[in-house]
Amino acid sequence: MSVSTVSKKSIDIKIQPVEKSRLADIDMSNVGFGRIFSDHMFVCHYANGKWETPEIVPYGKMELSPSFSAIHYGQAIFEGMKAYKGEDGEPLFFRPDENWKRMNHSASRMCMPEIPHALFMEGLHSLIELDKAWIPDNDKGQLYIRPHMFATDEFIGVRASDTYTFVIFTCPVSFYYKDPVKLLATKEYSRAAIGGTGNAKAAGNYAASLFPDKLAKSQGYDNVLWLDARLHQYIEECGTMNVFFVIDDAVVTPIPTGTILGGVTRDSVLKLLKDNKNILGLNSVELRRVSIYEIEDAYMQGTLREAFGTGTAATIAPIAKIGFAGKDMNLSDERPISTWLYKQLYGIQTGKIYDPYNWVVKF
Ligand SMILES: Cc1ncc(COP(=O)(O)O)c(C=O)c1O
Repeated sequence: MSVSTVSKKSIDIKIQPVEKSRLADIDMSNVGFGRIFSDHMFVCHYANGKWETPEIVPYGKMELSPSFSAIHYGQAIFEGMKAYKGEDGEPLFFRPDENWKRMNHSASRMCMPEIPHALFMEGLHSLIELDKAWIPDNDKGQLYIRPHMFATDEFIGVRASDTYTFVIFTCPVSFYYKDPVKLLATKEYSRAAIGGTGNAKAAGNYAASLFPDKLAKSQGYDNVLWLDARLHQYIEECGTMNVFFVIDDAVVTPIPTGTILGGVTRDSVLKLLKDNKNILGLNSVELRRVSIYEIEDAYMQGTLREAFGTGTAATIAPIAKIGFAGKDMNLSDERPISTWLYKQLYGIQTGKIYDPYNWVVKF
C-alpha cells in the first residue's frame, strides 16, 4: 500500500468532547445511509472578512435565525467524502485535496469565501481523530463526511452574505443504492444549463432535481438521467453520480461542459480505465458528447454492454435499466468492467490494493 501522510497542525481548534459517546447504542451492522450522526461536529464562523477560531463540539442542533440569507437565497454548498478503515484500523482518506478544491470552486461560484487548506484539512483530521471509532468495518460501510458552508447574514434582500458558517459532520453509512439502479432520461426537465451552477456542489441544484426525481420514482425508477438543457439529447449525469457506458470495446463518458459535477470518483475511474485498458479488453476510453439516441442505437444493436454510475456515496453503481421515450433498455447482469472497477477502487481506498497514484491519505 502507498499512503501519503499529511503533517499537522498549524491552527488552534477548541475541542469540547461529548461527556458520553452515543456509539454503544448504534447497531453498526445496520446503519443505512445518512440518518446516524457521529458524536462531534467541526464548526467555524466567518465574519469581518476572516475565519474565526474553529471549534469541535458535540453533534447537535445549531442556532438558526429565520432571516439567515442561506434559507432565502440559497447560498449553501457542500462536499461529500469518506473515511475508510485501513488495515491497521486507522482512517484512510481518498483524495481529500480534490474535495477541498471543489468546495472552493463551489464557494467562488456562489460568491462565498474560500476555505483555507489548513482549516479544511486540520478540521477534518481533528474531527475524524476524535470520532474514528465510528468508521464501520470495511465489509459493513464507511464514514461519510459532509463538509458544508451556508450564509448567515440576518438580512432580507438579494446580495451575497457577509457572514458564513463552515461545518463538518460525519455519519457511518453502508450502501447508498442497495440494488442496481434504474434511471429515467427525460426531455421535460433539465438539471443545469451552460453558464449555470451545474459544476458547483450548490444545495439549490439538488432542490431543483427533487420534483423530476419524484416523477421518475413514481414510474418505478430510482433517479433521473439528466440530458442537456438546450437540445435535450446529450447525456449529462445522474443526481448523485457521473455516468459511464460500455459500448463494444469502448468506455464512454460525457465530456464536462460546465453543467456536470466534476466527480472525484469519475476522475479516478477514468485513470483506472486508461491505465488498465489491456487487462479489461478495452480499445478506448472516450470523453465526448454521448447522445441518448446513441445509447438507444447501441442497445438495439446489442453493443451496449454495461452502464454504471460513479460517486463517493454511490461508489460504482451498476445501472440495470434506462427508460427513455416510453421504452426501457434492460441491461445485462454480466458487468465485468464495473465489477472490476468496484473491486479495484475499493481495494485502493481501503488500503488492500497497492495505490500507484498516491490517492490514499493518512493524516
Ligand atoms: C450531481 C453529482 N454528480 C456526481 C457526483 C459524484 O461526485 P464524487 O465522485 O466526487 O462523489 C455527485 C456526488 O457528489 C453529485 O452530487
